[in-house]
Order: sequence, then structure tokens, then C-alpha cells
Amino acid sequence: MTEQTAARADEDMFVDPDGELPAEDVRAVEEVLVLDFGGQYSQLIARRIRECGVFAELLPSTTPVEHIRERAPKALVLSGGPASVYEPGAPDFPTPLLDLGIPLLGICYGMQAMVLALGGRVETAESGEFGRTDLVLRGDGGRLLGGLPREQSCWMSHRDAVFEAPEGFEALASSPSSPVAACEMPDRGLYGIQFHPEVVHTPYGTEILTRFLRDIAGCAAEWSPQSVIAEQVERIRAQVGEGRVICGLSGGVDSSVAAMLVHRAVGDALTCVFVDHGLMRLNEAEQVVEAFGQFGIPLVHVDAEERFLAKLAGVDDPETKRKIIGTEFIRVFEEEAEKLEDASFLVQGTLYSDVIESGGSDHAATIKSHHNVGGLPEDLEFELVEPLRMLFKDEVRAVGAELGLPERMVWRQPFPGPGLGIRIVGGEVNRERLDILRAADAILQEEIRAAELYRQLWQSFCVLPVVRSVGVQGDGRTYAYPIVIRAVTSDDAMTADWARLPYDLLERVSNRIINEIRDVNRVALDISSKPPATIEWE
Ligand code: XMP
Repeated sequence: MTEQTAARADEDMFVDPDGELPAEDVRAVEEVLVLDFGGQYSQLIARRIRECGVFAELLPSTTPVEHIRERAPKALVLSGGPASVYEPGAPDFPTPLLDLGIPLLGICYGMQAMVLALGGRVETAESGEFGRTDLVLRGDGGRLLGGLPREQSCWMSHRDAVFEAPEGFEALASSPSSPVAACEMPDRGLYGIQFHPEVVHTPYGTEILTRFLRDIAGCAAEWSPQSVIAEQVERIRAQVGEGRVICGLSGGVDSSVAAMLVHRAVGDALTCVFVDHGLMRLNEAEQVVEAFGQFGIPLVHVDAEERFLAKLAGVDDPETKRKIIGTEFIRVFEEEAEKLEDASFLVQGTLYSDVIESGGSDHAATIKSHHNVGGLPEDLEFELVEPLRMLFKDEVRAVGAELGLPERMVWRQPFPGPGLGIRIVGGEVNRERLDILRAADAILQEEIRAAELYRQLWQSFCVLPVVRSVGVQGDGRTYAYPIVIRAVTSDDAMTADWARLPYDLLERVSNRIINEIRDVNRVALDISSKPPATIEWE
């Protein structure tokens, strides 16, 4: 699995659509289950809960109640969703949930569905509420909101609203178009809020979630990078036993953290294979080798640059390039794997967002397929070890930092499997052009890091279009390559915006690139968003 597919998320899709989870996914530590009604922020709810120190997992709203009972979560959270509760086909509220005796918090659609199921009144309000909205507490705010400011703002996204809470409930707050914007019935452990506590624009959102999780549901804040490491190490040992494990390293944070976890669990029974295709950034291959060397992790570094460049000679079609790089990558990996005859386990850096995504539609599968270059084929005969399966990207970074992975690797921006091979466009990928691109890219990275912007950018890189333009340097005319700077902000790579880099930074980068690299006489900035452009140029 690649860094990028790992980083991507699609909120409409769920993990495990049948609600059937393999036994190993039933956890020993306490957990909260988030039932997803298809809301835009469902994943974010799970992330925020984890940030409060409590493990949370997203399940479809159709998960059988029996399964939920077996999992015995400390609390349930019902997400928002795009439907109106009255719409034909709107997701049903699983009423047996109310009898489980598990504290339940309904958010937006989740609250409305619960209220309706219990005999309250939900109607379409005259005007919907979208975005920042004023919230006023009624009475003392009850258990859920008591002690918070009487007037506060929150983030709303709804058209239907609760006009009357069900019998036995107390209404806790209202907003201009939501007569009951929050309500509770503590005796039955039922709570509902119309607004989104998971969104940063709800200033007291985290406090409200924490109150629900800690004070009401009695969760202990046990979820931390340390607890993840301890738990995963145990699981990996249980899975692998005396077996031997192989791990393909890409240099990215996911495969590095996965490898470190497995190494901690099984030591030298792990061998990492780093296929260096010669299309990496400046010094990145060395950094991987050095970092893994420092930790004493057995690493086979395959210097396959010549092989890849020979195959790429004369090729400029983007798809052909991807295919060549992908196929060659698999070939080299398989050759190495064969040498480790007794290895029967393969480590994959699959992330939770991949797991969620792969429960989805064929449409998503087509979008993804071209990003799998640099990944491994599915028919390799290994049993998979996937220690990051339950983690979001930011959690992987936190685990990596805790394991001592160098800061540079922990925070590395996503990098495509085919590497610089897809950043030399309109002409052959060869050593000379790769060196030019690597040098330009290194300058850009250095300046962006110096300006402390590296972590704010989803990706920043240079592209080398194979065209030449005229310039003048000293007394002479030049005829050299341009370099294009591409820097984007994004949450998940599905959409992206071009980053507004400061002019003085751009000036420094441009001057340095042109002064320091002989074969470049022009620097341009890509100011296209995605869509309609893509992040990469190929
Ligand atoms: P695009 O260019 O489609 O890219 O907007 C979205 C994200 O995916 C990365 N990307 C790839 N990652 N193999 C990968 O592992 C690939 O072939 C590939 N192509 C694009 C890209 O860097 C961005 O993060």
C-alpha cells in the first residue's frame, strides 16, 4: 500500500460493510464505537475521540446490534448524515441500541434519529443552519453542557431540527433555527447534540466530547502511542510466532513505522527490503539505510538504479513509465523475497483510511488503481502483517516518534511510488535530468523547511518539463530547462489547493535554483488547484 492511498479518505465508505469483523479486531482495551450514518465528519469524530485518549472505531450504522453488544464498547456515538430523517430510504435508527445500557451520544442526524425513535418532534425548519451558529444554553446546561458559557458558537450543518425533545429528556440548548439543539436523559444514558463537536469551529467541542467520554461514560484516557506500541507488539508476536517476516520499505513514514513495530516485536526475524529505484530525492535512500542501520534492523538495500533507468530509456509516455516502474519494482522485490526462502509473512503499512476506503465502491477502486504503482501485487504468497490497520496518519507519526524514528522521516510528506520518474515530464527520464531535478528539489525542500512551512504543506516538490527556453546569464545567452515549483495544501489528496508561499521565499528558491544549477535558467510556479489539475504532473 502506498503512502498516498494510505493518506486518502472517503467519508462515504465504511469499514466492514457487513458488520462482521475478524476476531483479532475485537479489542482488549476499552473502546468507543462510532456508528456512521454517512456524515461528512464521521472519520473526524473517531479521530477526535482518540485525541481525547480513548480508542474509537467507525462502523456502519447498519452493524448488527448483537455485534455491538459483543464488542461491549464503553460508549456509542451516532454520527451525522446527509439524509433527512423523513426521506424514503433514510438510514434507520437501530432502536435496540437504546436498551444496551451503553451511554450514547447522537450528533446531528444521529440525534434527530434518536429523538424521533423516542417520540420527540423533528421537523424541517424554515431555514437550515450551515456553518458558524450561535448557541444559547437553556437552564444549567445539564450534565453534558453544564458549566460552559451560556452563549457560545458552534458549527452546524442541517435542515431538519428537533422542535421537541422526547418525554423524559431535558432540552439543554437552542440556536436560531434549532429549538432543541442539545438534549439529554442521563438516567438512560442518552445524549444528543445538533451541532458538530468534532469540528474545530465548535470552540467547546473537545470539552463536550471529553465530558461525554470521561465523566458520563467513565472512559479512562488509555489510548496513547505507548499503548498502541505495546498492544501491536503483542499482536504481531501472536500472529508471527516463530515465523520469518519480510517488509518492503519505501522510505515513507508508513512502511518505516510498520517495520519498526514489527522489529520491536520479532527482532531479527524481520528482514526489510528497500528497492532503491534511483528515482528518490537527494539523500533519501541514504537516510533510510542509515536510520534502519542505527536501529539494527536487518535491511537489504537493493541498488537497482541502473536496471530502472535502462528500462526507462527512450520512454516519455506517463502510463508506460508507471507500468515499467511498477513492474520492475515487483520483479526486484520478488527476487529478493525468493532469497529469503522461509519468510512467510509480509508487512504492509495499510492505514485505517485504506481499510475504510476499501470497504467502498468500485468507483473508488478505479480512482485508486493508478496510485498503486510502487505497491506489491496481491498474489504474493504471504500472510499479511498490518500493524497500522487501525491508525490514522497522524497517529502513525506519533507512534513513529515514540519509536525513535528520526523527525525527518516521521514528518516526511507523501511521495509517489514512481518517485521523480513522474516529475520529469514530456521526455525521457535519465540520470542527467534526475540529477538536475534532485538538485532543484533539494533547494526547495531546504528553503521550505527553513521557513518552517514544511509541515503545513501536504506536498512540495519540483517538476522538470523537458523543454528549453532562452535566457541570459553573464554576457551569454542560455538555452536551458525550466523548473516548476508545485506546493499544495490538502487534507487527503482528493482535493488540493496551491499553497500561497511567501514571495520572499519564492524569490530565494528561484535565485538559488538558477544560480546553483547550470542547466536551469527559469523557475515557474504552478498555481492550479485539484480539481481540475492533479497534484502530480503525470
Ligand atoms: P494526483 O497527482 O492524482 O495525486 O493528484 C494524488 C496523490 O497521490 C500521489 N500519487 C501516487 N502515489 N504511486 C503512489 O504511491 C503513484 O503512482 C502515484 N501517483 C500520484 C501524489 O503524490 C499525491 O499525493
